[in-house]
Amino acid sequence: MVLKNLQAVQQPMAYEDDCFLVPGPVRMGQPCLDAMGTAVMTARGQEFRDVMAKLNSGLRSAFNLSPSPSVRKSNSWEGDDGYKVIVVSGSGTAAMEMVIANRFRSNDLVLVPTNGKFGERVAEICKRFCNVKHMKGEWGRAFDLGEIERHLERKCYEAVLICHNETSTGITQDAEAIAEMCSRHETSFILDGITSVGGMPVHPQQWNAEAVVVGAQKCTAGPSGIAAVAVNQHYVERVQTIREQGDSNPTYYFDMIPALKKGSDDQTPWTPAINLAMGWGAALETLQNETNEARWARCEHMANGVRNLFTDLGFELLADRLGRSASVTAIMYPEGIDDGWRTKLKEEFNTQVIGAQDHLKGKMFRVGSMGETPVEEMVEGCVRMLECFRACGHDLPPVDVATYF
Ligand SMILES: Cc1ncc(COP(=O)(O)O)c(C=O)c1O
Repeated sequence: MVLKNLQAVQQPMAYEDDCFLVPGPVRMGQPCLDAMGTAVMTARGQEFRDVMAKLNSGLRSAFNLSPSPSVRKSNSWEGDDGYKVIVVSGSGTAAMEMVIANRFRSNDLVLVPTNGKFGERVAEICKRFCNVKHMKGEWGRAFDLGEIERHLERKCYEAVLICHNETSTGITQDAEAIAEMCSRHETSFILDGITSVGGMPVHPQQWNAEAVVVGAQKCTAGPSGIAAVAVNQHYVERVQTIREQGDSNPTYYFDMIPALKKGSDDQTPWTPAINLAMGWGAALETLQNETNEARWARCEHMANGVRNLFTDLGFELLADRLGRSASVTAIMYPEGIDDGWRTKLKEEFNTQVIGAQDHLKGKMFRVGSMGETPVEEMVEGCVRMLECFRACGHDLPPVDVATYF
């Protein structure tokens, strides 16, 4: 089914504009930009309830949950799978903090395996609100599933939290295998899906995930500064029970209880990010029209082309082969090249990719293959990247880039 959907993207056309191949924020489409230009409306009136209903329904689809109506007063945030979606004003990190702060008591113990910057951030957030066993792995290496299993056999963990798609290193975790272990050991499973939801298969219900977080500016091509979480019934019950027992971590703006109270009325507890919500709703409509399967396939198709092109040319990829991400590829600079290449690429070749973080800064670059990026932009971007390497003195043979896509 995924392959069939590729037909629409198999014939790259010439692309002449700037290439923006950053793994988020991604370029927003015209419908999203137009929607954000809508005149002001009140936060509590019927018009905004319409905006929320459309956004909730689009989010349920992006999260790969059961459908819900996109009209107000029809429980747009809920479906028959028991999940609810909650929109958060703030970036993905805000939504992740909200999920964690509300779900755990300070004496709960959680397991956080990591292999990059954003997984480590999940561990850091957890440390503010509960006890953490941080399984800190090397950046770009796949998790040791045997070690996770051995931890879970101890039966002392309340939850496993992972960064599903590690944008800092271009590795996607085997969420299905971890979900299966969590189910067997009756341990909750929570995912930072900030660069996976909308860009690759995510199955909250099948994985029995208690909470999944998405940021608008990544694979769904929405605006920065708005995010959402999908939570199941067990998550909601735990949050409520912990509150009734007086065991909650301190929160105010990110208190989940008022957000849960307002959801069925297509409302948020505080003044919502009104225009961002309008823009995201439009971007999610674009995603629905494309379909999740076609978008996942396009992202995978582009990432696959980038991986094959650069490895054929002798470049090394950071991530372990089996876990290479569909939405971001991390490529090591060859000997003699540093981040000056990226500056030249931007200034002279009108093409943007992003650098690395922390200890890998200056040693590699990352190419995003997410959102609404057309294949022809990726082809042209790769042509320019290779030209820029040549201009920096790195010898490369002639290559027909389009054949990789
Ligand atoms: C996987 C992942 N998690 C978390 C974040 C942080 O999200 P935000 O910058 O939206 O707070 C990012 C941002 O790049 C990310 O890629």
